[in-house]
Amino acid sequence: MNRIGILTGGGDAPGLNAVIRAVVKSACNAGIECIGLEDSFDGLLEPGRSRVLTPREVRGIMRLGGTILGTVNRGNPFGRSIQTSEGAREYSDRVVEMFGEMALDALVVIGGDGTLAIAHQFCGRGIPIVGVPKTIDNDIVGTTNCFGFDTAVAFATDAIDRLHTTAEAHRRIMVVEVMGRYAGWIALYAGVAGGADAILIPEIPFDLDRVAARLIERDLWGAHFSIVVVAEGAFPKGGSLALLERAHDGHVERLGGIGAKVCEGLSTLTGKETRSVVLGHLQRGGAPTSFDRVLATRFGAKAVELVQRGEFGTMVAFDPPDIVARRLEDIVGRIKTVPLDNDLLLAAKALGMSFGD
Ligand code: F6P
Repeated sequence: MNRIGILTGGGDAPGLNAVIRAVVKSACNAGIECIGLEDSFDGLLEPGRSRVLTPREVRGIMRLGGTILGTVNRGNPFGRSIQTSEGAREYSDRVVEMFGEMALDALVVIGGDGTLAIAHQFCGRGIPIVGVPKTIDNDIVGTTNCFGFDTAVAFATDAIDRLHTTAEAHRRIMVVEVMGRYAGWIALYAGVAGGADAILIPEIPFDLDRVAARLIERDLWGAHFSIVVVAEGAFPKGGSLALLERAHDGHVERLGGIGAKVCEGLSTLTGKETRSVVLGHLQRGGAPTSFDRVLATRFGAKAVELVQRGEFGTMVAFDPPDIVARRLEDIVGRIKTVPLDNDLLLAAKALGMSFGD
């Protein structure tokens, strides 16, 4: 094992740079050269889209959000025809060809479910790969946590704290839409940490009348304001997802807009002044929390260990208290949603938070 490539794919998440740093430092200490590939697998399309990474290049990046390698989020490239300096090629053929030409021995692929699925396909084409799970949504199966999630929850909790004071001052209902795609992890954790009165998640289709009834009940006992946290993937019973953009040309659908709908509905049903806020990409920005830095560092070091042991077609995972290896084939094509018997969900219900069910 002399030379490995490292890339980041999909939406960015706080902690990506901490993983890159950990991989580069541990690989270097093990005598392995690291090549940073720019813009996900696109970094393997042309030789000029990569650079050698040494501990010098990754100095001071642990606390930085984003990714020094760049990333793309445009769906599965397999089957796509592309123009290269050596003529037209099928995307995956070019990647395999360049992997050989660059004399790489393995790849460390840091990404979410989409990127890991692509990585799994490249394993099938003979590229030895170790994956590292990344997403603020925390929806990758086989790992208790993905780095990025804790930072997103911390940011959303802070936002809810700030909205509490203005909600109370104006006796309003504040609706906060958070990310998470088809899983309610961010909404559940930030909602509980922020002391929300209602939390709407994709796993529990909601009845807005029931949410409104709970908020009116609060008014009756003297709490004249409420906070409602809505996951972007939440939808009403018998209704459908709110979309900003439908899936097209390999791009996945973009969720968003349910917060405004819930806001309008609650205003009508309760007669109270109601406002909505979308936290959006702010949840993906900024410095990673210490938890995410530590997890990212452990993931990076473990990925290099798996590379050295030749354990390819795997993904590092957090199975507290250990970092373990999982088979990519066991995790791709699935997502980890909030189980209805999740202890935090049950605790929130026991405390009287409404889930609209
Ligand atoms: O998967 C991470 C995530 O931030 C989701 O929570 C969100 O739905 C999506 O990415 C947004 O993607 P984009 O950056 O392409 O708008």
